[in-house]
Amino acid sequence: MAQASSSQSPSEHPPQTPHPSKKIIEQSYDKIAPTYLKWTSSFSSPRLTYLNKLLPLLPPSTSCSILELGCGAGVPCSQILAQRSSSLVAVDISSAQLELARENVKIDEGGGGMGVVEFVKSDMHALSFPDEKFDAVVGFYSIIHLPREEQVVLMKKIGEWLKPGGHFLANFAATGSEGSWAESWLVEGSGMFWSSWDEGKSLEMVRGAGLEVLEGNVVVEEEVGGKEVGFLWVLGRKGEAEG
Ligand SMILES: C[S@@+](CC[C@H](N)C(=O)[O-])C[C@H]1O[C@@H](n2cnc3c(N)ncnc32)[C@H](O)[C@@H]1O
Repeated sequence: MAQASSSQSPSEHPPQTPHPSKKIIEQSYDKIAPTYLKWTSSFSSPRLTYLNKLLPLLPPSTSCSILELGCGAGVPCSQILAQRSSSLVAVDISSAQLELARENVKIDEGGGGMGVVEFVKSDMHALSFPDEKFDAVVGFYSIIHLPREEQVVLMKKIGEWLKPGGHFLANFAATGSEGSWAESWLVEGSGMFWSSWDEGKSLEMVRGAGLEVLEGNVVVEEEVGGKEVGFLWVLGRKGEAEG
């Protein structure tokens, strides 16, 4: 596996101990889970536009295995993915978010079209799965919370977890930042952390994981209060096995 040598480029140096942001992010989402859902539902996001580009590329729902990283309250993406797959693994670091997701993603035990949904409480950076397990791996507004060096390591793992021909959909911040902290985000006292490579290096990171970039577009969205924020939306595909 090639490693970038310059400190200016995405590199692979996973920290030995959890990054200090992890506990803060977990505690904050535990505190703000309902507030975040109300806030994020109150303005337009390209989530569904991109999800709708992914859905036709997936295998039939009777044999489709999906991993969702940072599922949050499960609205609307986990709800849709649960209907469109035979197996959805929905991961989040926050127990409160997972509790909401469990409520919002109604598991159809009668077998009326929905596959198996597994909710997993974990730091996505600590996950491990067998190679070629998933038809798709997605992450909406979640990978942005990982320190950017961890994003490189995670992307490599995603490249391994995807089946040949499998798809990746996620958004990253549009501009580079080693790490930015907020003392209070959405709710007083709820600290938050984000990190990112710039657009070119994020795309390099995705390609470095063995994925072809089908789409890589910066889309600016207007949050409540008129604040404009750009995200890089990436739809990628792992190459088919040769021979
Ligand atoms: C901005 S919210 C996005 C939630 C949802 N995907 C959406 O589109 O609204 C980010 C989510 O990622 C989760 N998260 C943050 N860091 C994480 C990590 N290291 N591992 C797993 N989940 C994480 C948070 O708990 C939160 O639910």
